[in-house]
Amino acid sequence: MDFGRLRMDFPTMREDRGVYLDSACQSLRPDSVIAAVTEYYTKCPVCGGRSVHHLANEVSVRVDETREELCSFFGGESPDCFIFTKNTTEGLNTVARGLGLRRGDAVVTTDTEHNSNYVPWLMLRDSQGIRMRMSRSGKDGVFDIESFKEAMGRDVKAVSVGHCSNVTGCVVPVKDVAEIAHDYGAKVIVDGAQAAPHMKIDMKKLGADFYALSLHKMLGPSGMGLLYGTGEALRSLPSLEYGGGTVGLVTYDNVSFAPAPDRFEAGLQDYAGIFGTKAAVEYLEKIGMDNVAAHDRSLMEYMYGEIKDIKGLSFVGPEDPDLRSSVMSFNIAGLGAHDVAMMLDSIDGIMVRSGMHCAHPFFVSRGIEGSVRASVYLYNNREDIDRFAAALRKVADTFGGFRNTRRP
Ligand code: ALA
Repeated sequence: MDFGRLRMDFPTMREDRGVYLDSACQSLRPDSVIAAVTEYYTKCPVCGGRSVHHLANEVSVRVDETREELCSFFGGESPDCFIFTKNTTEGLNTVARGLGLRRGDAVVTTDTEHNSNYVPWLMLRDSQGIRMRMSRSGKDGVFDIESFKEAMGRDVKAVSVGHCSNVTGCVVPVKDVAEIAHDYGAKVIVDGAQAAPHMKIDMKKLGADFYALSLHKMLGPSGMGLLYGTGEALRSLPSLEYGGGTVGLVTYDNVSFAPAPDRFEAGLQDYAGIFGTKAAVEYLEKIGMDNVAAHDRSLMEYMYGEIKDIKGLSFVGPEDPDLRSSVMSFNIAGLGAHDVAMMLDSIDGIMVRSGMHCAHPFFVSRGIEGSVRASVYLYNNREDIDRFAAALRKVADTFGGFRNTRRP
């Protein structure tokens, strides 16, 4: 696979808009995705699934084709198991609120979750009296299956884990977790926001009941996400919102609901986003997710080698590139994370994320104020890493707390 050539499919790269190392937040988009969004607005900017005129039919057909494409890409049970959402957060909220958990029921998470996989459960703790427990990771954030087993019990009705941490990059063995959780009769929910863009996901093999992800982290348009659920899991799940498109028939007194996915997609949908989604998934399919994973892995290994000896640098998460996916979090002694991020941007247009990355409990529990996070994707190359490493070295040498060690 010629990753150097495909980099030129991305206008942000072609136009040399800087070194983009913030793909864990949102990915860039190739021409084909932008063209598909434009195609919707220029050729058939109308509503799908309702009117029967020819433009509406074009949209309806594209929506169906996109779901079929998603099902084949993610190895799902059926296209109807894929619900369009606006992001991972919406998917997680839909499941958390829909499971009908009651006082005394427990949910198990890990201690490295994104806020979107804590807050919905915390709300249920406060409103319904559910219990929250979590598996504890080691010092470097690596998932500990023994700790997970200790958190389990007969009261556990849901296990909700991030497949890959957006801070440490550590990957949770979802298949093993699902098997254990199912032995207790618990439903398994996965936050796949950081995993789905970087590895081959086979929903049937993973064995989770629900898997939420963000398409805008995997080349899709902004504000597009997916909630996958097995047919059985979706059957009894109510929607977060009710209204047009979600029903069978409504009378003045009664309503019968449509099956999934329609029951979950209330009102007009983001059709331009769906057009772009199909193009994004086709693009990734053509490259092959195993090739994407190998490319990301090799860049992360290279990045580690280039920055590990920078004075005052400490990693947040494991150093071993084999233990982390495509994010690298770190701090420079004597400097705040936002200061480092702003300096990287002003020195050489290096774009990273800084702060607590919406994973507050992880940082608060460890007494860390935040971190700088560099994340890579398929359009990055070694030159990006070289520029990042050179700018970071300059920041550390000039402003870091260890700068005087080189000057007597
Ligand atoms: N959750 C996204 C990130 O980690 C926004 O950057």
